[in-house]
Amino acid sequence: MNKKIYTTPGITRHQHGHMNPQAHGQSANACEAIDGIVISDLIKQHGSPLYVFSESTLRESYRELHKAFSNRYPDVQLAWSYKTNYLKAICAVFHQEGAIAEVVSDFEYEKARAMGIPGSDIIFNGPYKQPEALERAVNEGAKIQIDNMDELLNLIHIAEQKQQVVNVAIRIYMDSGVKPIWSKFGFNSDTTEALQAIKRIHLSKYLKLVGLHTHVGTFILDPNIYRVATEKMIELAMRAEKEYGFNITYLNLGGGFASRNHLHYQYFSEGATTPSFDAYAEAICSTIKARWPIGKPLPKLYLETGRALVDEAGYMITTIVALKQNPDASGPSAGISAPAARDKSANRSNPNHGAAGYLVDSGIHLLHTSAWYQFNVRPAKPNNGTQIERLLYGCLCMNIDVIRQVVPLPNMNVGDQLVIHPVGAYNITQSMQFITYRPRVVMITSNRSVEIIRERENLNYIEQLEQLPEQLQLRADLKNLPFIETRKQVTHG
Ligand SMILES: Cc1ncc(COP(=O)(O)O)c(C=O)c1O
Repeated sequence: MNKKIYTTPGITRHQHGHMNPQAHGQSANACEAIDGIVISDLIKQHGSPLYVFSESTLRESYRELHKAFSNRYPDVQLAWSYKTNYLKAICAVFHQEGAIAEVVSDFEYEKARAMGIPGSDIIFNGPYKQPEALERAVNEGAKIQIDNMDELLNLIHIAEQKQQVVNVAIRIYMDSGVKPIWSKFGFNSDTTEALQAIKRIHLSKYLKLVGLHTHVGTFILDPNIYRVATEKMIELAMRAEKEYGFNITYLNLGGGFASRNHLHYQYFSEGATTPSFDAYAEAICSTIKARWPIGKPLPKLYLETGRALVDEAGYMITTIVALKQNPDASGPSAGISAPAARDKSANRSNPNHGAAGYLVDSGIHLLHTSAWYQFNVRPAKPNNGTQIERLLYGCLCMNIDVIRQVVPLPNMNVGDQLVIHPVGAYNITQSMQFITYRPRVVMITSNRSVEIIRERENLNYIEQLEQLPEQLQLRADLKNLPFIETRKQVTHG
């Protein structure tokens, strides 16, 4: 008689994806083409994995955002947040549309200048502005937004040395409803900290406060948060004016608008809860108009929107390289060791092979935002098979490399492609060269041509900054020997 095995009771973490009535089917449709270019043709020509950007989507998003604000407000300027995606082609599209640059480091500053953006059209943010970069920004008339008191003092020093009056803004933070409050950056305007900074600027002969900046957080799903932040910012502007005689000519509400991605633990499917650009614009513009003193010219409004402009324009095409069996299954008919599972050709010919997971040729090193989002994952070819929940493993030799813990997908085979979307924000800039070459990046232009905007990496590229000390160089005559032979000769003369 078979004796039942006792299993210790346990608690399994609730998976929100299971509960989501819209999750099933979110991957139902195939994504056969991007902007009319067939996925299989893209892969044939450019290899897999492949990042793909849609120029039309970039331009449409920019125009939609700009329109939402300029319909409500007379003086709005968008600044492209370089850190969100600083591929030259992406920056160029936004600059062509009229964006200035928003940068947060010496590297990004240099990049914007190399793109041809004048210093006066660069907003310089960031908690650490390297001294040389800060000095360059002063010389070139950049819009410097001071993050902390030490930076303020450095700036006073630079201005004094040059005997030059420098227009500045300060970054502030406040309780606007985002929890936890982003208190790492800027000066607290709910306490006296921000006012102290303004006082210090006032005491210096060479700094002039002309603007206020805040970036309340990111992926803000409640536009009302911007209403509160704008109100508090205007209150501070009025105090700076009344108590220290400064004329605040600009307000910068930073970034933070949500893209149509799907946060982990969010009940509704992607985009369902993302406010429209109009909703954000209404919250900010109506507040400025209502709170700004009558008769005083309205301040210029800057925005540093990042993810909401670029996320949806970016796709990752990846190829299934192995079918994985259910890690929880036991017994002879399940698990990776089952003969049928090991036999890939059997799997290929069996439409019901029922792989529990797919291993693909990209990974979390290329899809950093998988930590925040449940990407939409769709087959690149129509597939009417029943979708079951599967794991999507990346190709890294690391256990944490899981792109989706649960994603409904039909039976697919090794060699089939999946399209992962939206991945346009932060994945390129935060991608990591780890055990593989970072892939090619292409842009489908508005006139439907496919342009390479970043080449696939190669060994020369990766090793170009390395140096091998003389004494570690392998002797030419040893180089081609098998390792064991080489070692013998090195150790025994
Ligand atoms: C100062 C600043 N501005 C703009 C952005 C862009 O933010 P988002 O991508 O959320 O729009 C960021 C991102 O962290 C930021 O730190």
